[in-house]
Amino acid sequence: MKGKLITLEGIDGSGKSTIWRLLQDNTRFSQCAFTREPTTSWLGDAVNRALRSDTDHIAELMLFLADHADHISRLVRPSLENGSHVISDRYSTSRCAYQGATLQGLFEDPLDWVRTLHKGWTIDPDLIVLFDIDPAVAVKRCGDRGEQSKFEKIEFLKTVRNNYLRLAAEDRRRFVVINAERSLNEVKDEVFEIIANALEGRE
Ligand code: ADP
Ligand code: TYD
Repeated sequence: MKGKLITLEGIDGSGKSTIWRLLQDNTRFSQCAFTREPTTSWLGDAVNRALRSDTDHIAELMLFLADHADHISRLVRPSLENGSHVISDRYSTSRCAYQGATLQGLFEDPLDWVRTLHKGWTIDPDLIVLFDIDPAVAVKRCGDRGEQSKFEKIEFLKTVRNNYLRLAAEDRRRFVVINAERSLNEVKDEVFEIIANALEGRE
């Protein structure tokens, strides 16, 4: 692969979509393709439909995986092979953290099971920026957001946050954990610096 794949991760309300939008407005990142999961394809629509209804958790996971497979073949792989960098708002780590939480009780280690399901066909990110935040603060931030995800509940998000932190602890080479509770400007400056360095191949 000639380009680099960078993903932004975190619980709902952690501020990653705000930063993802600001990155797009900055000329330093004009050589990057910006994308997201769930995607804007019909498979992403199917995922969003599942999110709005009482769908079986395994069926929901399979829809997310179908959307991911299509995302890779349609956009991620061709972009990287063409030498373009890709910055995605959510990616496979969201599945391990969220479905690792929804599938609790069904499997001994649902996070690990979901992670294994990706092996052999996904493209792993070069860098995962994890926006870490107390779920109570994140939910408060989303307070006046029109359409709430069914996952925006503090107790549920605590499990998701722990899953994210476990994934980061188990893969220190790829993950950078940032404190997303600070002001937007502080978070923005740090994330811009981290991504710019990663794209230039600096530590
Ligand atoms: P996410 O994509 O992680 O769900 P958003 O980027 O949509 O989060 O941010 C959720 C809400 O919090 C938005 O109203 C946004 O304007 C606000 N917000 C984002 N970053 C910060 C920050 N650092 N401090 C305070 N509010 C923030
Ligand atoms: P998104 O639209 O990115 O929500 P937000 O802007 O609040 O971060 O994602 C929709 C919801 O889907 C969100 O609650 C996270 C969840 N999700 C999963 O459960 N699994 C996944 O694999 C992905 C990509 C998202």
